[in-house]
Amino acid sequence: MAAVLFVCLGNICRSPTAHGIFAGQVRDAGLADSIRVDSCGTGAWHVGEPPDARATAAARRRGYDLSPLRARQFEAGDFQQFDYILAMDRSNLSHLEALRPEGFAGHLGLFLDFHPAPPFGEVPDPYYGGERGFEDVLDLVEAASSGLLEALRSR
Ligand code: 4NP
Repeated sequence: MAAVLFVCLGNICRSPTAHGIFAGQVRDAGLADSIRVDSCGTGAWHVGEPPDARATAAARRRGYDLSPLRARQFEAGDFQQFDYILAMDRSNLSHLEALRPEGFAGHLGLFLDFHPAPPFGEVPDPYYGGERGFEDVLDLVEAASSGLLEALRSR
């Protein structure tokens, strides 16, 4: 059993996109019983809200349903619950590294380190931009999700 947590700032654009897409790939691979998937934000502004309508619409065009997801904030207990904690950008990764307990034996890093054609580094925040930003997020997330699934399968 692996447990994967995707983390961005608001948990309404990038990390729910990663959550929905990776969970879809896991399901299609028949691994839903062995890989748990969740997402959250380092900030609390949008707790309880569904994903941004632009993220939901862009994901729907590629066959993924983000509508059941609700934003929550990262909490210290997540280090006990998840063994892959994957940040969308370096700012969120720094935030998580500052909270990392001594005993955490899992993988804390950038999600795009699993992209098959690195180094992309960060998933750009699409919140203040236009539709194109959400398509770019989907391109990066789809490729990195495939890479992550391969990595988990070969453990
Ligand atoms: P996300 O995008 O981190 O990809 O969910 C953002 C959503 C909301 C805000 C910032 C980024 N905000 O400042 O409210």
